[in-house]
Amino acid sequence: MQTDTQAVRVWDLPTRLFHWSLVASFATAFLTAESEKLRDVHVLAGYSLAGLIAFRLLWGFVGGAHARFADFLPTPRKVFDYLTSLMNGEPQHYVGHNPAGAVAIFALLGLGLVAAASGWAVYEDMGGHFMEELHEVAANGMMAVVVIHIAGVIVSSWLHRENLVKAMVTGWKNIRNENPAG
Ligand code: HEM
Repeated sequence: MQTDTQAVRVWDLPTRLFHWSLVASFATAFLTAESEKLRDVHVLAGYSLAGLIAFRLLWGFVGGAHARFADFLPTPRKVFDYLTSLMNGEPQHYVGHNPAGAVAIFALLGLGLVAAASGWAVYEDMGGHFMEELHEVAANGMMAVVVIHIAGVIVSSWLHRENLVKAMVTGWKNIRNENPAG
């Protein structure tokens, strides 16, 4: 197996700004959810989250190579092959998002939209109890996926001996030339 490394520009600046702003707006919305006093902050964080996701949906078509949805669309076959490779102890390596991570990313974007839209409806007194339940389920579902997402980032960084968090900060990855898949 070759072990030489190569620096690759993987995340463009808008993708990185999107990511860390999303983390901030989600954390703010989650932490202020129960407070009457901080309701305006909660609503503002919800609007920011919705705006960021709208931007990301657009950026998925016009952004940098690895930010495009076409680069990480997780078909069942790709997810299956990736999970099989993990179980066989020879994990396929992706420069951008791996297929399992991509499933979590699309779940986060989808749940974020549902959480923001239902939150807006609740704020506008629309949809009654159902809308309140939907808002809570979407927000809690998002938190569950975030936990899985962070665990996936840690495991993947360890498996491939690469610092994924640093890459999401600097935009660069040091790629080891091993078992490439995409
Ligand atoms: C401190 C906690 C977090 C860390 C360390 C972290 C780290 C990362 C990393 C390293 C990636 C790139 C994964 C890869 O290389 O394939 C990523 C992607 C992503 N993360 Fe997080 N994340 C965190 C929290 C969150 C939260 C709270 C959300 C959502 C509310 C989130 C949503 C996303 C999304 C949507 C992407 C895809 C980025 C894109 O392509 O635009 N992350 N995260």
